[in-house]
Amino acid sequence: MQKPIGIFDSGYGGLTVLKEIKKLLPQYDYIYLGDNARAPYGNRSFDTVYHYTWQCVQWFFKQNCPLVILACNTASAKALRTIQQNDLARNFPQKRVLGVIRPTTEIIGNYSGTDHVGIMATSGTVNSKSYEIEIGKFFPHVKVFQQACPMLVPFIENNEYENEAADFFIMKYLNELLQRSDQIDTILLACTHYPLIKQKIESLLTKKIHVVAQGEIVAKSLVDYLQRHPEIENQISKNKSLHFFTTDDAEDFANHAGLFYGKKVMAQHIEL
Ligand code: DGL
Repeated sequence: MQKPIGIFDSGYGGLTVLKEIKKLLPQYDYIYLGDNARAPYGNRSFDTVYHYTWQCVQWFFKQNCPLVILACNTASAKALRTIQQNDLARNFPQKRVLGVIRPTTEIIGNYSGTDHVGIMATSGTVNSKSYEIEIGKFFPHVKVFQQACPMLVPFIENNEYENEAADFFIMKYLNELLQRSDQIDTILLACTHYPLIKQKIESLLTKKIHVVAQGEIVAKSLVDYLQRHPEIENQISKNKSLHFFTTDDAEDFANHAGLFYGKKVMAQHIEL
């Protein structure tokens, strides 16, 4: 029986994380689910994001996934804690669900020489204050400046991120962020959609700032996690398979996903 690692996002963004995970851990089976029918999650309430995410996680459990990665900052910020502390503890003690915020905050302080880090993310992630709180635990001396960028996911999901309208909003968000401190030397892209605009952001910056995407960080952290948790690693099946699922139209998913994953994919529609 296949026991794949489940990778979840509200839409396509998690594919940027899956791509990096597959590079470091090609031996495992994977399934990816994008909840495209209900994306974006970024502006939704805590309750709604939790409800949607938990529904998707239970779908992964029905596909026999021993481990699910929430490759979505919004879901990691708003749903992960409740899932880990209530749902898994009560009903699925053998299963594991991990997010993308913890591995990123464990390391992000090391990128900054000035100890001033900017965060670009969805409104949901920013309002949750998860990055401020978590970075404070690992790097108490680091000052964190958050910028909500609500227009970016819609531009990226609709493949409209290379036009002047997108440039306008990227510039607006960058200016608002950098106005808050001239010492920011590191900007974390705390949304799994943003790697697609990393180069654009770098080209719009007028001074040297390190722009950090999280896919590779999350992938390295997963390698480490699986080494430390052989009881989980042993359960995951290892046939190098990869299947994509979406709650919306499968053909539409396949047409968009290549942009995020780097190559064309096939997808299947599911009903939750
Ligand atoms: N990719 C998700 C994240 O990392 C955001 C997408 C959304 O707003 O649904 O936050």
